[in-house]
Amino acid sequence: MVNMIYSISYKENIVGNRDTNDLVFNIREDLQFFKEMTIGSTMIMGRKTFESLPTGGLPKRKHVIVSNKIKTTKDAVEILGEKYIENLTFINLDELEEYIREESRVNKISIIGGAMLYSHFLEDKNLFDLLSNIYATEVERIPHIENPVKLEAHSELREKCDFEVIKIGQGKDRLDDNNLVDYKIVRYFKR
Ligand SMILES: NC(=O)c1ccc[n+]([C@@H]2O[C@H](COP(=O)([O-])OP(=O)(O)OC[C@H]3O[C@@H](n4cnc5c(N)ncnc54)[C@H](OP(=O)(O)O)[C@@H]3O)[C@@H](O)[C@H]2O)c1
Repeated sequence: MVNMIYSISYKENIVGNRDTNDLVFNIREDLQFFKEMTIGSTMIMGRKTFESLPTGGLPKRKHVIVSNKIKTTKDAVEILGEKYIENLTFINLDELEEYIREESRVNKISIIGGAMLYSHFLEDKNLFDLLSNIYATEVERIPHIENPVKLEAHSELREKCDFEVIKIGQGKDRLDDNNLVDYKIVRYFKR
């Protein structure tokens, strides 16, 4: 099983903050959902997303980093700096499809970002076909971000896939603790 998972401000397709390399909201229920979905899985992520994780990575999950720059352990230590930990797996973009085909025979796979990697999956037919589900936690809007990271391909998902809303709720937005935002967790799957 290969799942993709992200949170998004869907009116503007914003998934990240370029200046801070951070997520755009931090609703507790969304983080909990992410944890439930990814625990025990092999997480595949772009290099910048790995750099945005807490030092030490996330427990009970295998970390696979897509990077064209990191080819040796020495590169990894230099490029990732204090974020470097042992037991990371590095693959380049050309190896991605084959890696997923092999790894998904033995482990559940979670594609966890960021925008560059998500876009690649949504735009490359072979990779798109490998996806079982896309889970998107959607909020309508977020407060202004100077340099947003966008996932424009999200707009086309409702044309390409069937979908079902699996959870609706209100959560506290980390940007403003008093601000309750409506969120929906939507599962997209192939017709
Ligand atoms: N909303 C969410 O659910 C969510 C989830 C994860 C991340 N994010 C946010 O997204 C932002 C980071 O996303 P990002 O798009 O800047 O970076 P990213 O996809 O995390 O990482 C990009 C890097 O990974 C490699 N890579 C991945 N896909 C590639 C492709 N298609 N072509 C070439 N190289 C590729 C390259 O590494 P090398 O440069 O080493 O070759 C590239 O520089 C952060 O703000 C993060 O917090 C949001």
